[in-house]
Amino acid sequence: MDQYLPEKVNINGEQFRIYLTQEEIQQRLNTLGKQISLEYKDKKPIFIGVLNGAFVFLSDLMRYVTIPCEVDFLKLSSYGDEKVSSGDVTDLKNIDANIKGRHVILVEDIVDTGLSMNYLFKKLKQFEPASLSAATLLHKTEATHHEVDLKYVGFKIDNLFVLGYGLDYAQEGRNLGQIYILEE
Ligand code: IMP
Ligand code: MG
Repeated sequence: MDQYLPEKVNINGEQFRIYLTQEEIQQRLNTLGKQISLEYKDKKPIFIGVLNGAFVFLSDLMRYVTIPCEVDFLKLSSYGDEKVSSGDVTDLKNIDANIKGRHVILVEDIVDTGLSMNYLFKKLKQFEPASLSAATLLHKTEATHHEVDLKYVGFKIDNLFVLGYGLDYAQEGRNLGQIYILEE
């Protein structure tokens, strides 16, 4: 059962090295899963994953959650194929679930400027959920200038470009089993 975990990897002509190992990530998800299971006991939360990046994180995180829960997805486009945010958010796919009166946990791969998360909070609140909170695997704390309320954060990281474990660079690298950082 060997996952794809190279020491270094070249993606689209750029060199990346390991930043967070598979073990560090899984240990952290175990803790977050336990926390969510306690805090949402008897609430049957619905996780809403932000495609594409969050699919790996959410799929692993859910398997550390031991209470009844549901999942749905939405899709945004804001980055294009660049390493810096375009500053625009566009809806590409909406949720199918009816979240009125439900306990919603929005799940992102990474919060950078906070624009996407800020936009999604406003968007989902219109559906009148009973509660709305957010989980993100990574948070670039210094880059965030839009108001965001992050209840569950996997790792606070420096303001550097990362990929792997669902996160991409021009759509590649999502299949890496851990998080990699650009080598300067
Ligand atoms: P924000 O709206 O500026 O917070 O950007 C959030 C989105 O940008 C994330 O959901 C990612 O898809 C993407 N993103 C931000 N930083 C990175 C990175 O370092 N690597 C890959 N994708 C990133
Ligand atoms: Mg994303």
